[in-house]
Amino acid sequence: MRSKYSGLQIAIHWLVFLLVIVTYCAMEFRGLAPRAYRPYFNIVHVSCGITILVLMVTRLLVRLKSPSPPIVPKPSPMLTGMAHLGHLVIYLLFIALPIIGLLMMYNRGGNWIAFGIVMPHAQEANFDLVDILKNYHVTLAMLGYYVIGLHALAALAHHYYFKDNTLLRMMPKKRV
Ligand code: HEM
Repeated sequence: MRSKYSGLQIAIHWLVFLLVIVTYCAMEFRGLAPRAYRPYFNIVHVSCGITILVLMVTRLLVRLKSPSPPIVPKPSPMLTGMAHLGHLVIYLLFIALPIIGLLMMYNRGGNWIAFGIVMPHAQEANFDLVDILKNYHVTLAMLGYYVIGLHALAALAHHYYFKDNTLLRMMPKKRV
C-alpha cells in the first residue's frame, strides 16, 4: 500500500485549500471595494465556488475508489472515528454549500456570470426561495470556518503532538 495520497488527491486538496480562501475573501472583503468593482468580486466568488464543487465531487469519487494510505503509528480507534466523521462533514459541507449557491443564483431569475459566461437562470424569480437558500448558504459558510479550523488544528496536532505521518501523507514531493 502507498505511504502517501496520490498526486491527484494531493493536488486537488491544496487547490481546494487555495480556492476556499479566495471564495471566502471575495465575499468578506467585497464591501471594501468601490461599488463599481463589486460585480467582479461576485464573479470570482461564484466561479471559485463552482470549481470547488467540481473538485470536491471528483475527490469524493477518487476517495471512494482508492483506500487512504495508513497513518503510522496507528491512532486510537476513537481518533480514527472522529477523523472519518470530520472528513465526511467536510465533503458534505463543501458540496452542499456551492449547490445551494447555484440554486440561489438560478432562482434570482436574472443574468449572472461565472467564468465570464452568462449562466442559466429561472424564467421567473422566486425571492421567497432565494431568502431561504441564502440563510442556509450563509449559515453553512459560517460553519465552514469552524470545520476548516478544526481540520487544520487536527492536522497540526497529528504532526507536532502525536508525531505521526497524517500531514506528510498530504504533502507534495518526497517527504514521507
Ligand atoms: C465552497 C464554496 C462557497 C463558499 C465557502 C461560500 C461562502 C460564502 C460566504 C462566506 C458568503 C458571505 C455570507 C455573508 O454575507 O455573510 C457567501 C455569499 C454568497 N454566495 Fe457563496 N460560497 C460558496 C459557493 C457559492 C456558489 C457556487 C455560489 C453561486 C454560484 C455562491 C453564491 C453566493 C451569493 C450570491 C452570495 C451573496 C448572498 C447575498 O448577500 O446576497 N456561493 N458565500
